[in-house]
Amino acid sequence: MLLPRTLLGAAALTTSLAQATSNYALVDVYDPKNFFKEFDFFTEADPTDGFVKYLDSSAADARSLAGYYGDAVFLGVDDVNQTQSGRASVRVTSKKAYTTGLFIADIAHMPAGKTDAQSCGLWPAFWMVGPNWPSSGEIDILEGVNTQSSNAITLHTGPGCNITNTGSVATTELMSSDCQGNQGCSQSTQSQNNYGAGFNAAGGGVYAIEWTDQSISSWFFARNSTMATSLAGAASNGTAAPDTSSFGPPLATFVGGSSCDISEHFQNQQIVINTDFCGQWAGQVWDQDKTCSALASSCDAYVGANPQAFSEAYWLINSIKIYQQQQQQPASAASSKRAEKRGLPFLA
Ligand SMILES: *[C@@H]1O[C@H](CO)[C@@H](O)[C@H](O)[C@H]1NC(C)=O
Ligand SMILES: *[C@@H]1O[C@H](CO)[C@@H](O)[C@H](O)[C@H]1NC(C)=O
Ligand SMILES: *[C@@H]1O[C@H](CO)[C@@H](O)[C@H](O)[C@H]1NC(C)=O
Ligand SMILES: *[C@@H]1O[C@H](CO)[C@@H](O)[C@H](O)[C@H]1NC(C)=O
Repeated sequence: MLLPRTLLGAAALTTSLAQATSNYALVDVYDPKNFFKEFDFFTEADPTDGFVKYLDSSAADARSLAGYYGDAVFLGVDDVNQTQSGRASVRVTSKKAYTTGLFIADIAHMPAGKTDAQSCGLWPAFWMVGPNWPSSGEIDILEGVNTQSSNAITLHTGPGCNITNTGSVATTELMSSDCQGNQGCSQSTQSQNNYGAGFNAAGGGVYAIEWTDQSISSWFFARNSTMATSLAGAASNGTAAPDTSSFGPPLATFVGGSSCDISEHFQNQQIVINTDFCGQWAGQVWDQDKTCSALASSCDAYVGANPQAFSEAYWLINSIKIYQQQQQQPASAASSKRAEKRGLPFLA
């Protein structure tokens, strides 16, 4: 017998649907409407020794290094002044921290030059990190240095987390499976439109990160793909939460299995977006990069003397949306009783 839906207990209905599909609900949207209310400016010395000076919000505002450009959030660097003490830039951190979820980042432009020389010295990153590094983990979603042409996706943890990457697309290469410490577990990707000049030329795209207790997976959808269009619009107009089972194989997946308890190693992570220069990565590999090391004897010297090289070193973030699993209401005695009280049959 068909019952009018309104007569069924809402809890019973939610439970039966949850078993069939994922149960994501939108919890936060960061976009030009609220971004600078929900992110703080990091102003300490760079913990990774970069040749950078992170400005506070009022200095960044006064110099037009943070704000809005069109419909996007703009985060830039000083591309005018020479410096001997570190290039002015910004690093922002979400006020809110997350444990698990689906993170959809719609990015129109990332810091990277149109030519290799305009990328030398740069170290842009879109990432997440928990307290007491590395014990609450770090997820590097979009990151690279110097003339790198495709994204490297990396996790960092304390000791005791080795992952496998079964399920990543075939072109992605697992560089290291032990996520411990500075080196972390990293996957190198190959497509040239997911990072740097290629990413920017194609109008950027959408990164989707799904973090569960079992795995952390990343997908990239180029701007002109139907999935990017649908994810960019989803939920801002009442569309249902994305269904990751329709995403296809991830660009990179990190599976915990028996050698990494993801829920133990990844917790309370804030979203961080920054543009660094040189330091412990871009600076450290400067000499190995033939294009960059031909330009100057050191990364700091190049970045300090060539502000004009960094005219493309800015982020344009259209939106970041975060979905989390809704609290599953178990088919509990409570909901059964409620249905019984009303004298209705309920779904077993
Ligand atoms: C360059 O430096 C001057 C003087 O400090 C400052 O007023 C100006 O805003 C800087 N330009 C940029 C783009 O940061
Ligand atoms: C992770 O891998 C390292 C190096 O291969 C090994 O020494 C360590 O025992 C492994 N740890 C776990 C938790 O599997
Ligand atoms: C998307 O753009 C790339 C070039 O950036 C092109 O190679 C590809 O065919 C385009 N795909 C679609 C679906 O239009
Ligand atoms: C919501 O946005 C998506 C993607 O842009 C679009 O396909 C869909 O038709 C929109 N839905 C409504 C109700 O406007």
